[in-house]
Amino acid sequence: MSPQPPPALLDAWRAFSASPPLLYRAPGRVNLIGEHTDYNQGLVLPCAISLATWIAAAPRDDDTLRVASLQMEGIVTARLTGLAPQRSWGDGVLGVAAMLARDGERLRGANLLIASEIPLGAGLSSSAALEVGAGFALLALTDRAPGPADRAGRWRLAHAAQAAEHQFVGTRCGIMDPACCVLAQADHALWLDCRSLDTQLVPLPAGIRLALCDTGVRHALASSEYNRRRQECEAAVAALRAVRPALTSLRELTPSEFAEAAERVPEPARRRARHVISENQRVEQAVAALAAEDWPRLRAILAASHRSLREDFEVSSPELDAMVAAAESAPGFLAGRMTGGGFGGATVNFIREGSEEAFAGGVSAAYRRASGREAAIRIVTAADAVGPA
Ligand code: GLA
Repeated sequence: MSPQPPPALLDAWRAFSASPPLLYRAPGRVNLIGEHTDYNQGLVLPCAISLATWIAAAPRDDDTLRVASLQMEGIVTARLTGLAPQRSWGDGVLGVAAMLARDGERLRGANLLIASEIPLGAGLSSSAALEVGAGFALLALTDRAPGPADRAGRWRLAHAAQAAEHQFVGTRCGIMDPACCVLAQADHALWLDCRSLDTQLVPLPAGIRLALCDTGVRHALASSEYNRRRQECEAAVAALRAVRPALTSLRELTPSEFAEAAERVPEPARRRARHVISENQRVEQAVAALAAEDWPRLRAILAASHRSLREDFEVSSPELDAMVAAAESAPGFLAGRMTGGGFGGATVNFIREGSEEAFAGGVSAAYRRASGREAAIRIVTAADAVGPA
């Protein structure tokens, strides 16, 4: 059965707008591996998930955007001719409209009502889903939404969403999240080379489930810390130019090439670079392990990724570490690690189909013992890219 919009969205629409709504769905994503590599031109392996942001939309006769969300306070309004950040939750929506207009799209005024199933700040890309979903809806209202095979149109939307995040929201994010939202396919992960923008769909083995274990912890400084990590990676590249004048990104170095030059790079940039360079290699290893269904190998690769994120990139947290440990001893666990930008959020786990309840029970009890907190555990499937509902 195709996914259905939340009934509360349709109920709330009746009070929001007189015209019947058009409905669009933009998935969240979970990154299986390849963390903090996207803005270093590296490799990532996310998949879109069955938790989505839903957009109900109708055109207006004027040039106003009127945007509300079931999860957020207040109605955001702006004229298409005067789009600027308002420092509210709606900036991603206004930003994607501004970026599409910058690209030459002639958008029309619209009422947009949003309902999101994606927990905010959990590292599951609620922001990109909002930006891509709103952008898709606005394009659809002028018959310009990219179809399933329109790769160029889908990439334009992904780039507009990323630019909205940079210019209106203020996080200098990479391309992974919007790219996954526009290109993903059900039952597959998306291998993406963030330098060439080549992609490959990687089938997820049958007989497994993805369990997302949310620590419930969110860090207010996530965006500024994220931007700082990005600067530290840029500082590593700048320092390495002493020995490699043509270097433009950490992607261009293998772990052994980096080891030879590492002493040129001051800390903490050195550890940040070591994470990124080793993580690129782990993405390729993970794709091979998934294809071979070699679970012990995948478990070791994901554990190495988590360790590197904790020790070298320093984006894990005591709660994320506790959640990873809790999963490792739970029934049905195959492989897992923290996922997304970090600083709080969730872990991703491959578990055996049929073990969902036992796994959730085991993780919850162990996490409660270790942290005194309640875990929120969601079993998801790999979903399709953004599109009409
Ligand atoms: C956030 C960003 C992504 C990516 C991840 C870390 O989700 O939006 O671009 O950098 O963090 O891998």
